[in-house]
Amino acid sequence: MSTAKSSSATERKVTTHLLQEMKVRNEKISMLTAYDFSMAKIFDRAGIDVLLVGDSASNVIAGHETTLPITLDQMIYHAASVVRGVERALIVVDVPFGSYQGNSRAALESSIRIMKESGAHAVKMEGGEEIKESVLRVLSAGVPVMGHLGLMPQSIYKFGTYTVRAREEEEAAKLISDAKLLEECGCFALVLEKIPAKLAKKVAQSISIPVIGIGAGGDVDGQVLVSHDLLGVTQDFNPRFLRRYADINTIAYEAVKSYIEDVKSCDFPNKDESYA
Ligand code: KIV
Repeated sequence: MSTAKSSSATERKVTTHLLQEMKVRNEKISMLTAYDFSMAKIFDRAGIDVLLVGDSASNVIAGHETTLPITLDQMIYHAASVVRGVERALIVVDVPFGSYQGNSRAALESSIRIMKESGAHAVKMEGGEEIKESVLRVLSAGVPVMGHLGLMPQSIYKFGTYTVRAREEEEAAKLISDAKLLEECGCFALVLEKIPAKLAKKVAQSISIPVIGIGAGGDVDGQVLVSHDLLGVTQDFNPRFLRRYADINTIAYEAVKSYIEDVKSCDFPNKDESYA
């Protein structure tokens, strides 16, 4: 019986409504970042619920230190590539730094470009009260919005560090009030990044939309990780919250070493790998 239930859950196309149902059913939501067609196809086939075309592409794909440099055009390129590889997952795209903050018209234009040019299903924006106008304007165009509170990498130069956020009462109170505000505005889900597990639990229990955590403990409605971290492509990023499920870095390194050896020793290509 449990097999039948889980197979129907993995076949159904994921929508914002399904995520809401999952929260009500207390069924955890799995979310992962994706930046390209081939990996998105693998993640979708594995049954991931939500794929986030994260602006972490700026770090893990482009090699920048922060998420700030990535452009709207680059995000659209990644998003369109992911969309082509996916049949079931809901695809959410980060609106990049500089294309929505402090300007709701820019937020609307950026979000519409993302939706039209990539074919994705929703956008994500970082912030609470300070981006309320942008969130409302994007929602008014019928574009689903996912919120993001806690550690907000686009504001790294304001925070100064990547340490755990909202440990102090004042910041925790603002986070709770921002979460409620985003729910009232009409966001369909909320990401909470790197905050105390107790606070994340309180937020998840006090709002009705799904709360997806990264470094926010297990008492939320779902989890998200950066796929390059989960797969062990990145090696120098080891926060407490990260669980590595593979060591792709070593696998790729060893494979390329063997290839180089085979080319140098004339072992590759052999007769079977050549045309007559
Ligand atoms: O860009 C990203 O990868 C993200 C996740 C860390 C949630 O926003």
